[in-house]
Amino acid sequence: MRQDLILFGPPGAGKGTQGALLAERFGMVRLSTGDVLREAVRRGTDMGLAAKRFMDAGELVPDDVILGIVRDYLSGDAAEQSVIFDGFPRTLPQARGLDELLDDLGRPLSAVLVLDVDDEALVRRLSGRRSCAACGAVFNLETDPPVEQGRCDQCSGELVLRPDDEPATVRRRLEVYSQQTAPLLDYYRQSPVEVHHVDGQQSIEKVQAQLAEALGR
Ligand code: AP5
Repeated sequence: MRQDLILFGPPGAGKGTQGALLAERFGMVRLSTGDVLREAVRRGTDMGLAAKRFMDAGELVPDDVILGIVRDYLSGDAAEQSVIFDGFPRTLPQARGLDELLDDLGRPLSAVLVLDVDDEALVRRLSGRRSCAACGAVFNLETDPPVEQGRCDQCSGELVLRPDDEPATVRRRLEVYSQQTAPLLDYYRQSPVEVHHVDGQQSIEKVQAQLAEALGR
């Protein structure tokens, strides 16, 4: 049976890292709205051009754009698969929109998994993150460096700092998270969906083990 879940947490908490591991381990698919938007920016589509100015400023892309991405994904690639939502929903209208979409499709939301990481660690992680310009693989200069400096281990592409990982933009993303996204946890606590918190400041392996445990698998 399909069982969708939300991976929730601030910028740099490890949603992408853990979401990819969970998807592989449990045969699920991961929808990162951030990855979809970055791909649209890279390809220069109308959506990418419109989204770029919000992303570069550390602001949220409008809800209707995001809900359109999710609607297309659920009715296309992921129609028959369990989905990990990474970085979505981020506002109350997005959470309500997701509920409506899932209701219409008869898909249950099984859990919200929250990665807790303090701001100091988030800033350090994001300033050390390097992403492959070609394939999107993620590294960290401090905790997960590439074998060859500046080059992706997987495809030898160039490793770059994401434009929104500049310090001033990171500060704005953290503010936006605490003002617009963190309050969503109350919405889920008041719903029948299970909410599990995991300490995201442990090693990647420990975090992964605790997420799997929280899912009862
Ligand atoms: P998005 O791409 O979703 O960014 P984010 O939520 O800010 O999250 P990040 O990708 O920065 O971090 P992450 O939690 O995935 O951490 P990661 O695993 O990479 O969104 C970008 C922008 O797009 C938004 O600002 C907005 O403009 C727009 N957008 C996207 N979705 C939207 C939506 N729903 N609504 C509106 N706008 C939207 O890890 C970070 C680093 O830490 C890496 O270097 C990693 O190697 C390292 N690391 C990971 N785990 C550990 C660990 N346990 N210990 C040490 N280091 C670790």
